[in-house]
Amino acid sequence: MKFLVIGSGGREHAIAWKIAQSESCDKVFVAPGNGGTALENKCENFKYNSFDDLIDLCKREKIDLTVVGPEAPLVDGVVDAFTNEGLSIIGPHKEAAVLEGSKIFAKDFMKKHGIKTAKYESFDDYNKAVEFIDTMEYPIVIKADGLAAGKGVVIAGDKDEAIETLKEFMLNERFNEAGKSVVVEEFLEGVEASIVTLFDGEKIIPFISCKDHKRAHEGDEGPNTGGMGVVSPNLHVNEEVMNDFINNIMEPTLTGLKNDKLTFKGFIFFGIMIKNGVSYLLEYNVRMGDPETQAIMSLMESDFASILKKCMDNSLEVEDISWKDKHCCAVVLASGGYPLKYKKGIDIQYNDNLQEESKVFFAGAEVEDSKLRTSGGRVACVTAIGNDSNEAYDKAYESIENVQFDGMFFRKDIGKI
Ligand code: AMP
Ligand code: GLY
Repeated sequence: MKFLVIGSGGREHAIAWKIAQSESCDKVFVAPGNGGTALENKCENFKYNSFDDLIDLCKREKIDLTVVGPEAPLVDGVVDAFTNEGLSIIGPHKEAAVLEGSKIFAKDFMKKHGIKTAKYESFDDYNKAVEFIDTMEYPIVIKADGLAAGKGVVIAGDKDEAIETLKEFMLNERFNEAGKSVVVEEFLEGVEASIVTLFDGEKIIPFISCKDHKRAHEGDEGPNTGGMGVVSPNLHVNEEVMNDFINNIMEPTLTGLKNDKLTFKGFIFFGIMIKNGVSYLLEYNVRMGDPETQAIMSLMESDFASILKKCMDNSLEVEDISWKDKHCCAVVLASGGYPLKYKKGIDIQYNDNLQEESKVFFAGAEVEDSKLRTSGGRVACVTAIGNDSNEAYDKAYESIENVQFDGMFFRKDIGKI
């Protein structure tokens, strides 16, 4: 079989690497891919300008199945474009991608279907929003409605900060259209978990749980990022929490998707907050997470290509997905200054003399004449598995010694906080 993976991050490197391990896989195209996928066994990068370029590639190369990594092409309708051409693709159509593309749509969906979430109101009128926040207890959470590259959520500690945020989002249009409408919601204190699931249109199957580390610096300090590291499984997601999540969030989501005729084949990522053993849904993503995917792919025992194929054929069963009885630690190596300003084009020294069961997934890295250079904020994700979380941690951090570039920084407390 031939596959296409759309995206250029560490997530897509991990997806392509895992698919390539399948005996059924002859080739994986990655569009546009990165320096890591350029060097990966069975993989080939493909540059494109439009969905038509991708559709042409699929027809020319007789690609059997496409997997979409990031949210932007989903929200832009890549699945609709492929489906219209009769091509097989894993991901939600444009209408369902709004679950991630609009926070207001997602919160209204949660409320309508009785899915546990923080109390909220939504506004497209600045004055009404200001009036409302007067009545709130602080801190409160303000979210830009549309996609804002992970920067559209502010936890406001007091009224001044809340007003400043509303002004920035709604009047100064910091995120253009994306911030003109906002969700204002109750702040929930607890432990976060990422639960990625696979939806075949009929049932939703949860993958192994993860814990992301979103802030840039140790001790959960600094600005929010796309994610600086993940451990999996998330030790806070015990059987009781998982059952609570399944009964009060996942199952009502499934019923809601069916009732609202929003079914699709693709990933649903639930970002949850666990408070006193009870899960609250913070957000839906209609894709896998980054760096959650690097950990999930490292721990997956089963053949991922076959899982995706079965999902398309409606023959996927829970038993088809098995996990290594191990723990994973995945640490992101970032460019100095990320997530704000950072330099690109810096040489990366890398040797693959890694610890056993370790892997470096590249993201913001490009390759020329077999030499790797930085090309983004999150440059690589060093991933290791071990018999327990401490062993995974030690192996990941020892393996990091094989990657170096000027300005490189990473959090040393992944899984320790
Ligand atoms: P979201 O994009 O909605 O997941 O929000 C990004 C991050 O903001 C989450 O991962 C949480 O760390 C934080 N966050 C979002 N909503 C809340 C909330 N209601 N209470 C506390 N923290 C939140
Ligand atoms: N790591 C969080 C995300 O992918 O949204």
